[in-house]
Amino acid sequence: MNNNTLVETIARLIKSPKGILAMDESLNTCNRRFSDLGVSQTEEKRREYRELLITTPSLEKYISGCILFDETIRQSTLKGKSFTSVLTEKGIEIGIKVDQGLEDYIGHPAEKITNGLEGLERRLSEYKKLGATFAKWRAVFKIGEKTPSDDCIRENAEFLARYALLCQTEDIVPIVEPEVLMEGAHSQEKCYEVTARSLDAVFSELKKLDVFMPGVILKTNMVLAGKDAKEKSSPEEVAKMTLKCLTESVPRDIGGIVFLSGGQSDEDATKNLNAMHNSGPLPWPLTFSYARAIQNQALKYWAENPADIKGAQDLLINAARNNSEASIGKYKK
Ligand code: 13P
Repeated sequence: MNNNTLVETIARLIKSPKGILAMDESLNTCNRRFSDLGVSQTEEKRREYRELLITTPSLEKYISGCILFDETIRQSTLKGKSFTSVLTEKGIEIGIKVDQGLEDYIGHPAEKITNGLEGLERRLSEYKKLGATFAKWRAVFKIGEKTPSDDCIRENAEFLARYALLCQTEDIVPIVEPEVLMEGAHSQEKCYEVTARSLDAVFSELKKLDVFMPGVILKTNMVLAGKDAKEKSSPEEVAKMTLKCLTESVPRDIGGIVFLSGGQSDEDATKNLNAMHNSGPLPWPLTFSYARAIQNQALKYWAENPADIKGAQDLLINAARNNSEASIGKYKK
């Protein structure tokens, strides 16, 4: 394990005013999004779409790293150039989703546990050879009357910590992602409480395993009222509660913090990030790692106009630019 390598990778990943493009949708998720838009769910279509994303001109101006899925990290452009070399030539870091998805958490109806520790060492060393410098593991917590349970939070946190340690052993930066889902009608206060509980558990497990904190990126949800809540939180409220929660639960020496968009509208995800950067100096680097809030428009356009790649890429770069501006508090609608 080389701490300098981890710190240097993070410095490139959180270089202002850039953020991370998450394009690591699993086969199921990617196919579901395609199916909703009437796109056929084939390996070739997924390849074609991902080629469109990574070959977007000037992507590197706003995007420092792309998180890929196992299928994608092995794919190439139509002309035969590997996706990894396309990204490397643009100076974009290669990330890889290494968890293997969600499973029912036995004895805890409606809760999920994230799997993927089995064989992880071997997979990490293969991904490293393919050019990956960072990785991602996502745990999910759904807010319900009795969920998430302490058991579910603790066990997912233990897995995240073991994953993080294995990544660092391979000199791969771990993104640890405990996501509190937006689904539901819960209040912003409830989201705050659950986010704080999950972050506290994650950092306590990371500490137990002596994971090198400046070599870790936290990927987290913003602290928001649920999607179906009667009252929506304003960007200022989101910024205030999210920063309070992060300040109380995240160690100061963490390498960086990035947000998922979590089903917020594109505009909300951008405005909320922007508001955080207008709240005074922050103790850690803070930027975006969005999938939907960057891809939504481009994917929809491409589904309807498959021959107009440039049109879809223009929408993608526009969303990336908006979030880049938000990452320095300079976004204007
Ligand atoms: P969204 O921005 O669509 O929430 O996805 C981010 C992500 O990578 C979830 O793991």
